[in-house]
Amino acid sequence: MPPSCKGALLLLLACLGGLALGEVGNFSPCLNFFYRERPPWQGIGTKQNNNLAEICQFYKNQYSFASLYHKKRRTPLYSAYILFTVRSGKRPDARWMYEPQLENPRGSREMTPFPTRKPKDKIVFDNRAVPADYTNSTYTKGHLNPSAHNNGVENQKATFTLTNIVPQRNGSNCGPWNHLETEVKQRLEKYCDGLAYVITGVIPYRSENHYIKERVAVPEYLWSAYCCPRYRAKLPESEQTHFPTYAAVGKNDHESDDTIVPVNETGYDVSQMPLEILECILKRRLDMHNTSLFHKQCRED
Ligand SMILES: *[C@@H]1O[C@H](CO)[C@@H](O)[C@H](O)[C@H]1NC(C)=O
Ligand SMILES: *[C@@H]1O[C@H](CO)[C@@H](O)[C@H](O)[C@H]1NC(C)=O
Ligand SMILES: *[C@@H]1O[C@H](CO)[C@@H](O)[C@H](O)[C@H]1NC(C)=O
Ligand SMILES: *[C@@H]1O[C@H](CO)[C@@H](O)[C@H](O)[C@H]1NC(C)=O
Repeated sequence: MPPSCKGALLLLLACLGGLALGEVGNFSPCLNFFYRERPPWQGIGTKQNNNLAEICQFYKNQYSFASLYHKKRRTPLYSAYILFTVRSGKRPDARWMYEPQLENPRGSREMTPFPTRKPKDKIVFDNRAVPADYTNSTYTKGHLNPSAHNNGVENQKATFTLTNIVPQRNGSNCGPWNHLETEVKQRLEKYCDGLAYVITGVIPYRSENHYIKERVAVPEYLWSAYCCPRYRAKLPESEQTHFPTYAAVGKNDHESDDTIVPVNETGYDVSQMPLEILECILKRRLDMHNTSLFHKQCRED
């Protein structure tokens, strides 16, 4: 698109944006990505912590998932999505994107690709991670909602926004965490009848001095949990503890001690665990009082 048209389009979108409720700042348009429409820590972004923003990820005219974003850390605390239990295509060749509404409530609610050169808009650079932050950083761009858990190329592309990305060690991202993502997908495809709700997030370091370029906060652990309310009546014995919920925590630092995840030779291991154990860990490590990830532990009645 020629630059002049792009400018006009942005202006048009900015005007239209004034009419709609912002998609950053409120989960209400995308509550369907949470089991029983109950997001953990909902409203915390507006009431208790000005650094948090509730983002309804919007791409190609549709909502694709939800993220709770921390503006100071310049990373999400979690992304919540529905795992489609049908085969997805291969990872798309996607551009990295951002949500204009994070700084400007009147901006487009649609994700927008980062400019190929350094953003001219200083505000964009100041308030969020940009692709260059990850260059030479020794960290990979770790998806919380992974492309491979999504169905359809548009939903997959929508995961390539840096508000869904945290700095992740290659040994985790290409090792045990990747195995976990594959295992969870296969398990849910095989035994989950209907929708599976997934929330994947981070546990920050206790001390705050873990940043890339003093800008992008590195998490000490990643965690993930799913809720599959309707599942096969006859589960093999090995799968019975895995429904309706199960959870996991993975190390993102091989020097972390073994209180949460046992030390293993790979250094980036993932421990799978019951939901209740994860909620207990989150309660201890995050300053959040209500750590219920799924309403009534995902039990229908
Ligand atoms: C990455 O490192 C290379 C080689 O040291 C350097 O030329 C380049 O400018 C660096 N890029 C960034 C974004 O820091
Ligand atoms: C990332 O990790 C994978 C799996 O451990 C390994 O095969 C690959 O060489 C690593 N890549 C880099 C750039 O270190
Ligand atoms: C470490 O991880 C490997 C690969 O996942 C596994 O085979 C092995 O049993 C683990 N070792 C310990 C001590 O847990
Ligand atoms: C905690 O969150 C759950 C699920 O969102 C909700 O049902 C429950 O009422 C909340 N409890 C408190 C004390 O806020």
